[in-house]
Amino acid sequence: MLDPTCPPQSRGTPALSRNAMNANLETALGRLTDLSRRDFYNPYTRFDWPAEVDRDAWWMDPPFLTSHGTEQHWGIADAIRLSHAETINFFSLHVHGIRELMGAVAVRIHTPRFRPASEYLHHFIGEENDHMWFFAEFCNRYWDGVYPAAAPSPLASSATDGPWTDFVVFSRILIFEELFDYYNARLGGSTLIPPIIAELHAVHHHDENRHVAFGKRLVESLYAEAMSAGGEAEHDDVANYIKTYIRHSVASMYNPRCYAYAGVDNPLAMRRRLLADPVRAEVHTEIMRRLDRFYRRLGLYEGGWDE
Ligand SMILES: [Fe+2]
Ligand SMILES: [Fe+2]
Repeated sequence: MLDPTCPPQSRGTPALSRNAMNANLETALGRLTDLSRRDFYNPYTRFDWPAEVDRDAWWMDPPFLTSHGTEQHWGIADAIRLSHAETINFFSLHVHGIRELMGAVAVRIHTPRFRPASEYLHHFIGEENDHMWFFAEFCNRYWDGVYPAAAPSPLASSATDGPWTDFVVFSRILIFEELFDYYNARLGGSTLIPPIIAELHAVHHHDENRHVAFGKRLVESLYAEAMSAGGEAEHDDVANYIKTYIRHSVASMYNPRCYAYAGVDNPLAMRRRLLADPVRAEVHTEIMRRLDRFYRRLGLYEGGWDE
């Protein structure tokens, strides 16, 4: 992973040379490990859990609901119920998504290949374990537990086996984290929603700043490595896979269970209508703007993930 003797890649040239990217990754690993140590907290004592969370309050600011901006109109009580269910969906997606992806990190830690990153990966796994706990804790205390995981994504089993394997694994983590952080960064500062919910978003955002910084340095290094290890032939397939994975991740926010809870008669039809709405496509583009720019700069694809 950090071997600077590999030849440079021949296609999709990143802005920095391979050696420079490795230097960036090594610097980031040291800095982020220090920050994780400095910011360490005990999740089990970090939060003051209230006896209950107000069911008359918005749990998510209305602009972050999956129906926002569309012609689908909801009564205020139903929209507030939707904000409750979509908060539970959001927290549940983190629990199930990270549960799956942590396994992929755990099998790599302390392998010779990932040795330079092992210490940081301990912090990563530890912090994600904490996140999984506090998001599930909210759902257990104030709801009927986390929502069940969706049927396993067909994308999970179609990851490549070869020079792109690690690039795909860590890209999936990065995509997931960028999607979540868009909401965390904004809802963490909300004064409309109950303080415990805003605090969960804010604490998660604080940790995810480090994870996203690490993810980008690692993914760009893995990209260069895959290209120099004979991955050019599969390059376009991998690019298409990443675009599809981004689409799949965005669509996971639209859970029919939430529409049913908000009183919609045909929740599957509602999901289809919302996902097909051009207004929502613009929102998705905005959510993924930073990540899209990152992949374009890397040379993974031109245009955009949604083109
Ligand atoms: Fe997390
Ligand atoms: Fe994370």
